[in-house]
Amino acid sequence: MNVAADSNHTASMLARYERLMDISMQLNSTLDLASLLRKIVSAAKELTNTEAASILLIDPATGELRFEIASNINPHEIEKIVVPMEGSIAGWIVTHGEPRVIEDVSKEPGWSRSVDDTIEFHTRNLLGVPMRTHKKVIGCLQAVNRLGTEKFDEDDITTLTVLASQAAIAIENARLFQQSDFIAEMVHELRTPLAALKASTVLLLRPDLPIDRSRDIVTTMQSETERLIRLTSEFLDLARLESGRTRLDITRFDLRELLTESVEVVLPQANNKSISVAVKSERYTVAADRGKVKQVLLNLLTNAIKYNREKGHITVSAREAEGQDKPFVQIAVSDTGFGISKEHQKHMFEKFFRVADTAGFTQGTGLGLAIAKHIVEAHGGQITLESEANVGSTFFITLPLATR
Ligand SMILES: Nc1ncnc2c1ncn2[C@@H]1O[C@H](COP(=O)(O)OP(=O)(O)OP(=O)(O)O)[C@@H](O)[C@H]1O
Ligand SMILES: [Mg+2]
Repeated sequence: MNVAADSNHTASMLARYERLMDISMQLNSTLDLASLLRKIVSAAKELTNTEAASILLIDPATGELRFEIASNINPHEIEKIVVPMEGSIAGWIVTHGEPRVIEDVSKEPGWSRSVDDTIEFHTRNLLGVPMRTHKKVIGCLQAVNRLGTEKFDEDDITTLTVLASQAAIAIENARLFQQSDFIAEMVHELRTPLAALKASTVLLLRPDLPIDRSRDIVTTMQSETERLIRLTSEFLDLARLESGRTRLDITRFDLRELLTESVEVVLPQANNKSISVAVKSERYTVAADRGKVKQVLLNLLTNAIKYNREKGHITVSAREAEGQDKPFVQIAVSDTGFGISKEHQKHMFEKFFRVADTAGFTQGTGLGLAIAKHIVEAHGGQITLESEANVGSTFFITLPLATR
């Protein structure tokens, strides 16, 4: 290398380290796991000048090595991909705790084409490094398909290794934050129905209790027990979704049938408040997890009833969505209820968030929309809302249409 080339090289290395420092600072300030992972893969691509990047993490519960995010894989496809610890490149990196450069994957005996085949992607070369916290290796960060003609060199390995260890610490922090936050809130929510149950049993045991009062108390106990059951299953749902352990069971089904079926479930509730519900939709075949989409729709519909006025209206409609690279359908659930102020709209999809005005006279945990957001995004879709105070709200979700 001549002197000029050498100083060029040093300058570009310095620029790269500066960029790495910037990125590390950004990572450390992100506690939301999903956006953290997105930031890491985009940084990995940028710093190594590659076409795609991915993160595989060891599932703390099962010990399996699984794709957590990849810039070239859809979120709903990724969940199925478990990589064997033995015989795979990622498994080798994780067990040995060392980086690996593969110049030509087709010459690699441990290379499995099955992931490429699943996602219709062609991997040519890759650089993978372990993601290490101070105690252990938690996964592996891979940069795939170098852009341009240069091969991966020592600088690339160093840069990606530094990024990976910063990322590993940030991931651990986000996980810890998620757990502490969630457990504290969960215990808090469980205490109210438990306290009500305890008070009821004390009353029931009083010898002077009139027989007709005991019926009332048992009725209260029953509804509090139902609330506990619902709470615990929602907690479990959300905890699974947040940790990425939820598997989507994707099938093709008729959306209009599902809309009608969901409306039928909530009709008795709507009738109680004399609220009308209309479904307006063409026939669409979507590719999604039917049970989970139904769960989302039921929450949106229940909200549209709970936070609606007497004799209000609800409209459920579907149309093809624009501006997507593959065809999506957009479902809208529209109500004539209290509406949501701009300030509250920002927090709508956060777990445990409930608007104070309505929390007083309606039952709920504030988990429904947080769960809905996870489910819709796991399908590669989006959930949004438009609302005007005292006029009503519309919640929109997008889902992939079945192709062919
Ligand atoms: N259609 C709506 N109109 C007005 N406010 C709404 C509407 N949907 C939701 N909200 C507000 O957003 C909050 C969060 O809704 P979310 O569905 O997450 O929880 P929830 O209905 O309170 O409880 P649950 O977990 O049982 O669904 C509600 O408490 C309510 O204040
Ligand atoms: Mg709800």
